[in-house]
Amino acid sequence: MIIMNIEKIKSDFPVFKNNPNLTYLDSASTSQRPLPVIEAMNEYYTSFNANVHRGVYKISEEATEKYEKAREKVRNFVCAKSDKEIIYTRGTTESINLVMHGYGEKFVNSGDKIVITIMEHHSNFVPWQQLAKRKNAKLVIIDINENGELKEDEIKTKIKGAKLVAVSHASNVLGTINNVSEICKIAKEEGAVSVIDGAQSVPHMKIDVQKFGCDFFAFSGHKMLGPTGIGGLYGREELLESMDPFLYGGDMISEVTVEKSEWNYLPYKFEAGTLPIAEAIGFGAAIDYLSKLGIENVYKHEKELTEYAISKLSEIKNLSMYGPKKADKKVGVITFNLNGIHSHDVATILSEYGLAIRTGHHCAMPLHDRLQIGATARASFYVYNSKEDVNKLVAGLKEANKIFKVG
Ligand SMILES: Cc1ncc(COP(=O)(O)O)c(C=O)c1O
Repeated sequence: MIIMNIEKIKSDFPVFKNNPNLTYLDSASTSQRPLPVIEAMNEYYTSFNANVHRGVYKISEEATEKYEKAREKVRNFVCAKSDKEIIYTRGTTESINLVMHGYGEKFVNSGDKIVITIMEHHSNFVPWQQLAKRKNAKLVIIDINENGELKEDEIKTKIKGAKLVAVSHASNVLGTINNVSEICKIAKEEGAVSVIDGAQSVPHMKIDVQKFGCDFFAFSGHKMLGPTGIGGLYGREELLESMDPFLYGGDMISEVTVEKSEWNYLPYKFEAGTLPIAEAIGFGAAIDYLSKLGIENVYKHEKELTEYAISKLSEIKNLSMYGPKKADKKVGVITFNLNGIHSHDVATILSEYGLAIRTGHHCAMPLHDRLQIGATARASFYVYNSKEDVNKLVAGLKEANKIFKVG
């Protein structure tokens, strides 16, 4: 049973009117944006374009109000305690780098253990790999089992004695949803700080950073119907207070003399320079849109679609799927290969039929090495996708098999 009116939802996205044949299956890379998000940004530029926090005139006050209101929406969406704990960033990558610089550089020392997993996106892999190298710390990697899930026994043993644990909530390749509550609980017991990469979970499921018990949680606006160039970092207030700023400049300062500088209070201590104001306001509109749909409905819809896609794709004999085969274990991301055809060729053929999928390593090269596979094809779903889109994907893949005379 489809619980959302997909045709109605789709009509909110101008890109589909402008590309009537488009079947967009690449939302894990970036989502499309509905009209209210575009309009919210336009309204800023056309009606109250001014810098925030600086002017005492009317349109600056209006811009500041909308910009801060959006922060409150983000805070509610991830269930943080206070707006002080929500820092605007350019997205997940910048959020994780902020933690690496602000926390890691200050508190991780030689010999400390940093724990990540083999399924991490480069954004949650490389910063820790580089920090470990600089600090002479140990980088320890939790492996996956044959279902593409983290090995249970390794979660406990490898986190033992760790200083910092950085794990994705949902994998952008396998789709696997990790039990972050459990991981954060173990990290806490060990006295380690937890960093969760929520890039692939926040758009699709209920997030409660307090229930998860995480210390940091990173996410991107552009994967959740919002604009590019804006995202968020949730950080526990006490930890944010203890950290050094990531960037220096305007707005993050309370006082500067020739001799020294003092930092602004949270969250501004981490928001140097003029931030993407229109984008922050658009981000707020995206959250309004998702909240209206109901994030639980979004999750249910995608789960149903994923279940359908897994069953349909399983009928294609030469198709290998990576990651859990059960829809309740994953987000709406299906990574696969048609044996005998390079994924780039598959994607090119699908493109002839208006299908947009992603191919390559999806910024997860260590995972591809671990699975001993090269490039893969990935289809990912969101609020505007339907079973009809899955049927088109299946038909396109059968066509690719015919062209290459395999399958
Ligand atoms: C799991 C995961 N982490 C991090 C990122 C990086 O996100 P961004 O490029 O928005 O910083 C992505 C993007 O695909 C992702 O899927």
